[in-house]
Amino acid sequence: MKRKKVTVIGAGNVGATAAHWIASKELADVVLIDVVEGVPQGKALDLLQAMPVEKRDVAIIGTNDYADTANSDIVVITAGIARKPGMSRDDLLQTNYKIMSDVAEKALAASPNAIFIIVSNPLDAMAQTAFRKLGLPRERVIGMAGVLDSSRFRTFIAEELEVSVENVTAFVLGGHGDTMVPLSRYSTVAGIPITELIEPAKLKALEERTANGGAEIVKHLKTGSAYYAPSASAVEMVEAILKDKKKILPCAAYLQGEYGIQGLYVGVPCKLGANGLEKIIEIKLTAEEKVALQKSADAVKELCSVIGVA
Ligand code: NAI
Ligand code: 2OP
Repeated sequence: MKRKKVTVIGAGNVGATAAHWIASKELADVVLIDVVEGVPQGKALDLLQAMPVEKRDVAIIGTNDYADTANSDIVVITAGIARKPGMSRDDLLQTNYKIMSDVAEKALAASPNAIFIIVSNPLDAMAQTAFRKLGLPRERVIGMAGVLDSSRFRTFIAEELEVSVENVTAFVLGGHGDTMVPLSRYSTVAGIPITELIEPAKLKALEERTANGGAEIVKHLKTGSAYYAPSASAVEMVEAILKDKKKILPCAAYLQGEYGIQGLYVGVPCKLGANGLEKIIEIKLTAEEKVALQKSADAVKELCSVIGVA
């Protein structure tokens, strides 16, 4: 059987670590591409030389040339600048808009049938940028944020209750920013709603820590932002698509009336399979949750308007 091919654009922290997860799970051959000469080549060669130890048969190359990315099944875009202390994700807007526009066009020319997973920040506005530039159906352009945000929420819940992370499911809706909406009502431990297990004030604190999860790590690192959990999250989406798992994951998707939102990328529960985004799941929200989701969508729309992709 011919192996699948995944291109990761941006060989920085998130991109290189995504390549690592893809290779260590033996999901596909990997092409790591960056504008900086030598970095993708060096990281790819180093990772390739770990494969005999890891017992994984995958090809990994690093390049600066889109010809090498030809006919990829999935393209993961992590190119762009990352946050430093004091910066919000939104501060990255103009620089990453230019980078996203450039790389999306080049990647599509080389891989016209690929499914695109967008990671660069500000996430929802960058997914919208990619969607507009690529001109593909929404099924093939999906943003990664909710998997990360809900994984952070799951981590905090598991720590609080001293239970296995495997027992915890959690949902975070909305844009990947300060206005994200952690949904405690739909978060469970072995099927038990966490609202039954954690008292409201504590739960609120965990939700707030989740919404500030990215900033907490930036504060520690000082020179950049999180990358282990973000790359693992992007690769969970890659895996769901390559293996046609029909997995329900929170992703940024282009809404066309779902949740009362029109023409905008916002985080919602999605089913991912071989066709990319196969379904958007609409769950019932309380009036308060609806207001919070709309507020989050308004924040995304504002950013999209600034760069002319609303
Ligand atoms: P990084 O600075 O380590 O890596 C970015 C890489 O992009 C660099 O190697 C740079 O040379 C490359 N690059 C810049 N312009 C390029 C172009 N035109 N073509 C190809 N490569 C180009 O940053 P890191 O930590 O890897 O983060 C990458 C992006 O992902 C940032 O925008 C960050 O904010 C975002 N991010 C998003 C998350 C999410 O949940 N959606 C989570 C974590 C990071
Ligand atoms: C994060 O949430 C910076 O978006 C990135 O860690």
